[in-house]
Amino acid sequence: MKDWIDRADEVIFRTYSRFPLVLVRGEGCRVWDQNGKSYLDMVAGLAVCNVGHCHPKVVDAIREQTGQLIHVSNLYYTIPQVELAERLVELTFADRVFFCNSGAEANEGALKLARKIAKDRGHPERFEVITMENSFHGRTLATVSATAQEKYHHGFEPLVPGFRYVPFGDLEAASRAINERTCAILVEPIQGEGGVHCPPEDYLRGLRELCDAHDILLILDEVQTGMGRTGTLFAHQGMGAVPHVMTVAKGIAGGLPMGAILASEEVASALTPGTHASTFGGNPVAAAAGLAVLSILIDDGLMEWSRGVADHFRRGLEELAARYRQVREVRGRGWILGMELEEPGAPVVEACMERGLLINCTMERVLRFIPPLSMSLEEAEEALENLERAFAQVWGERRG
Ligand SMILES: Cc1ncc(COP(=O)(O)O)c(C=O)c1O
Repeated sequence: MKDWIDRADEVIFRTYSRFPLVLVRGEGCRVWDQNGKSYLDMVAGLAVCNVGHCHPKVVDAIREQTGQLIHVSNLYYTIPQVELAERLVELTFADRVFFCNSGAEANEGALKLARKIAKDRGHPERFEVITMENSFHGRTLATVSATAQEKYHHGFEPLVPGFRYVPFGDLEAASRAINERTCAILVEPIQGEGGVHCPPEDYLRGLRELCDAHDILLILDEVQTGMGRTGTLFAHQGMGAVPHVMTVAKGIAGGLPMGAILASEEVASALTPGTHASTFGGNPVAAAAGLAVLSILIDDGLMEWSRGVADHFRRGLEELAARYRQVREVRGRGWILGMELEEPGAPVVEACMERGLLINCTMERVLRFIPPLSMSLEEAEEALENLERAFAQVWGERRG
């Protein structure tokens, strides 16, 4: 494997701390490295491959579309883009969709939308957006400024002005932070990169009420929580709250780059011709893949089916937590699960990898489990067994 890794190290920006693994194939919940070793993949492209690797329906949709039309400008209409927008509108609160290519780009567009609608509503002084401590919204200059974690700001100052940070889950703090300059609140329904934190039950609903009272937008960043990951198509649909704007990306096109902004008619109308655009946004191949993803999640029942396996895996994690004093807490919803440790998680991640299990660690101490929703009960059991063996290997006799 060294050869490819050495070659990569010579020519690719050093922006990623990568594992020494060259992956060449994926099928369902498994990926294979160059030497033929297989891994159960609970990273899933970082919450992207929700329908599994190379799902035949996604592969067929991509194959068929690439044979027909790969790309044209958004100066023209394409059929898959219209069909995907129609399906998303049918399945959500939204009336309209803007397509782009990533989560950061979707959030960037939503921030522009929030500023623009404030101006259209006669409030040119409103440009500030309230975001949450520990949040993650992307790596462009505006979204990194929206991300309230200093480690992502370092070296890129001055940040884009107009963001106020408040503690996640604290309705009172959000209320106090609203002033005459505020145009929106941007929040993840569950914080993913920030360590898998779920808010109190009425939090999102309370934020929506606050926004309505102040005539500002509630923007939900569902980039990581969307596309069935929490057991409903979008997390807020299981949390009794409706946003004014939602951003989506990651799993929307089964592994092809795509992002989207969804909004009501009135809100979407603020972005008129010439105010926002994307060369690749809504590309027909990505849109065709997106239609296949929705068909698998909804029509084939994958999303509903996944809830039982996710619950089973969570119970397994809780049993492990009860037996190892190095585990502080298990949290999450559906197939976005976090296990916070008392110590760094990197050695556990490496021990799992040796055993053919890929997991992720965020915020240094939170093991994160975000597999394809197609994970079977047997695969979930296999993952729990390997996780326990990894615990024993790393913590050995310190087992509590
Ligand atoms: C909640 C959330 N928003 C935005 C992003 C950025 O998405 P992208 O990497 O596609 O720009 C991420 C990526 O992890 C995310 O988790």
